[in-house]
Amino acid sequence: MKVAVFSTHPFDRRFFDQANAAAGHAHDFLYLEPQLDVRSAPLAAGHEAVCVFVNDRLDRSTLEILAEDGVRLLALRSAGFNHVDLRAAADLGLAVGRVPAYSPDAIAEHTVAMILTLNRKIHKAYARVREGNFVLDGLLGFDLRGRTVGIVGTGKIGLNVARIMRGFDCTVIAHDPFPDVAALRSIGGTYVSWSELLERSDIISLHCPLTPETHHLVGVDAIGRMKPGAMLINTSRGAVVDTHALIVGLKHGRLGYVGLDVYEEEEGLFFADLSDKPIQDDQFARLLTFPNVLITGHQAFFTSDALTAIADTTIANITTFAATGKPLYPVTL
Ligand code: NAI
Repeated sequence: MKVAVFSTHPFDRRFFDQANAAAGHAHDFLYLEPQLDVRSAPLAAGHEAVCVFVNDRLDRSTLEILAEDGVRLLALRSAGFNHVDLRAAADLGLAVGRVPAYSPDAIAEHTVAMILTLNRKIHKAYARVREGNFVLDGLLGFDLRGRTVGIVGTGKIGLNVARIMRGFDCTVIAHDPFPDVAALRSIGGTYVSWSELLERSDIISLHCPLTPETHHLVGVDAIGRMKPGAMLINTSRGAVVDTHALIVGLKHGRLGYVGLDVYEEEEGLFFADLSDKPIQDDQFARLLTFPNVLITGHQAFFTSDALTAIADTTIANITTFAATGKPLYPVTL
């Protein structure tokens, strides 16, 4: 099939070319750098599929242009599909395929890297030692052993984080409206209510999808009920956290540490080199001023294993769609 790939980075190209070669050059990829939106959608004309990532905008207006130009498949290079107007896709007869699990380990391990970095201040120590400063003041951490970790969303990633944190001898509690009691119990964790998770956790890690129910799940109310000085890690989707409430919580010292791999307005920021430009997003700029905030630019998925799995599964979605009219891993309303 002819596939227009949006938001292409050199690494996408490398892993997609490898996977396509392994599949006998089954598909014809046009690699495009722009993000998909109403303005760039016409670039897909003449292609039966588009391949998109998390910050491409698949709203109704964009999908109308794609459908009119002959696109029949939206092949997502992601697990999350909150950026797709599924109602519009269904109305326009566009099939949607995703990569349900490409490497839950990659995201879980990055989550733990953020916990350890924030706690032991590795990012500060690295810079300090390189400048010949071996003073320890300001680098004080705490033992993870015996601390309580609250996991919000015990799907593939959340359960992996739970398993790793049990390895540190942490007490693991979790909240999920669709609990997997046996899986969590086998790891040694227990389910609790949302309130109990907020009140008991020393570290709270978010692993739920972004849905209307989880939008700003962590806002003024939730932050107000957390343990003073608690650590919050978000590697799920930015808008699960209300950034304004987060800044207030940080200013008042309510939150002790914040680690973000995602940000609610990341669309215009992440995956681009903006190092020679002033940051226009004042909330993001404010977040960067806090010494106890660590931000990575949506890189939790970024391992060679995950990129190989993303490319392989996306190609399998496209190949299956070409043969049957349905992707291997469809997303439906
Ligand atoms: P999953 O679908 O396996 O698990 C999500 C879990 O969240 C499910 O058990 C679900 O019942 C639960 N959930 C739904 N609503 C909830 C709520 N209101 N409160 C608590 N739990 C709730 O998804 P997976 O693969 O574990 O991924 C989780 C999220 O991580 C994705 O939706 C995606 O947004 C994000 N992600 C981030 C990446 C990154 O690079 N930072 C990469 C991949 C995924």
